[in-house]
Amino acid sequence: MKYVMGVDLGTSAVKVLLLNQEGEVIREAAKSYPSIQKKSGYSEQNPEEWVEKTILAIKEITAGLDPEGIEGISFSGQMHGLVLLDCNHQVLRDAILWNDTRTTKQCRDIYELVGEKRLLDIAKNPALEGFTLPKLLWVKEHEPEIYESAAVFLLPKDYLRYCLTGEIHTEFSDAAGTLLLNISEKEWSREICEAVGVDIRLCPPLIESSDFTGCLMPDIAHQTGLSDQVKVFAGGADNACGAIGSGILEEGKTLCSIGTSGVVLSYEESNQRDFAGRVHYFNHGKENAYYTMGVTLAAGHSLSWFKDIFAADEHFDDLLKGLAAVPIGANGLLFTPYISGERTPHADAVIRGSFIGMDTSHKKIDFVRAVIEGITFSLNESVEIIRESGKKIDSIISIGGGAKNEEWLQIQADIFNAKIVKLTSEQGPGVGAAMLAAYGCGWYSSLSKCSQVFTQVAETYEPIKENVEKYKELYSLYKLIYQKTKGLNASLNRFRH
Ligand code: XUL
Repeated sequence: MKYVMGVDLGTSAVKVLLLNQEGEVIREAAKSYPSIQKKSGYSEQNPEEWVEKTILAIKEITAGLDPEGIEGISFSGQMHGLVLLDCNHQVLRDAILWNDTRTTKQCRDIYELVGEKRLLDIAKNPALEGFTLPKLLWVKEHEPEIYESAAVFLLPKDYLRYCLTGEIHTEFSDAAGTLLLNISEKEWSREICEAVGVDIRLCPPLIESSDFTGCLMPDIAHQTGLSDQVKVFAGGADNACGAIGSGILEEGKTLCSIGTSGVVLSYEESNQRDFAGRVHYFNHGKENAYYTMGVTLAAGHSLSWFKDIFAADEHFDDLLKGLAAVPIGANGLLFTPYISGERTPHADAVIRGSFIGMDTSHKKIDFVRAVIEGITFSLNESVEIIRESGKKIDSIISIGGGAKNEEWLQIQADIFNAKIVKLTSEQGPGVGAAMLAAYGCGWYSSLSKCSQVFTQVAETYEPIKENVEKYKELYSLYKLIYQKTKGLNASLNRFRH
């Protein structure tokens, strides 16, 4: 039997999957790492820790296996994070992550220097705090000696792959999230670089997601238990890989992924549609294809934050016990998941979360239901934007932590008013990365062919009419909270440290 490996470098952990030629997940291992939050709005990680934990996770998977059987490996990674390397390819500072929102000023500078309309023409996206270019400009302004020492920047999974192979690259799906890529031409934008004063030589060489990037370095092969002949393929942004792993490879297909962040993503054949920056517009991991996407910054993170603060010793399964018995609307409690600011539909780094309607009768499980409903309402705002663009969304594939719980899957069906499809593995990004390796190894002639084998439906959840009506009413209340709390949160901002 032959195998491929998918490595998903997430925000809370690295998850490694081993799949066989039937697309079955044979083994999996995960290792977590912390985020560093020096100030409100800051979010960083130590890149060395990604590498250390990935090696440990791969080692756990290869234990007792014939290394020659594992033919290919590829990667999925948290997007946008800035890793800066000097001319000896040493890391210059901790990585600044996608959910770090310190760069509001740099976003304004980008608009001033490039022009809002021109930025949308070239990079297809607005200047958002989470993207890579504002982070690069922040380092240039606040840590000039580090910026001056930088020879190249990498995205998180590209740094990991560099440490395993010694080769420096990025690929289009992750490059699309930097704001430096000309999305349609598939090349770094000299115009944007010159306008903002970034040397284009800082940008790494560009390749396709399924391109072969080399073999493992011998000492890495030794440490991981893999063969030094295993073929390493570029991989993709976690959302692009989530789309591949869920079979979002043709027009009309939509994905909801609830991990640390939450996204609603829709396949796009063309790079010519105009969403005026209301949703992200990125290159897919499938060649010459695209996707649009709305992002809730703290989706699963809202729930894990709630658990860490109010139920640290409880297991997630225990925390969610009794969820189905709480009526729709959590006994009059609403939650907005803006604990790290928000992206879609409100690009606002200063907004913060709220519980509205707290009552002495509320139990912990009411809060849990309110958090889950609030996260799903936020994602529904992205579903709404994509529907408003003329797309019909009557079926959505759901992956990530949000697809692990039956009641939450039903809540998604009722709030999105669409059939929810659960796959046999909810780990879309890791499966997508493994599919890029399978396709790269030549097991299949296309990703779509690979998906016919690797992507299997486990269950479906239909919207229940009565619930849909109740949620419509609640959703209209939920949508009011942003405007009503925006000014309050802006004033509270100066008390945050
Ligand atoms: C997408 C985004 C997040 C990260 C999470 O634009 O910032 O979904 O990719 O890993």
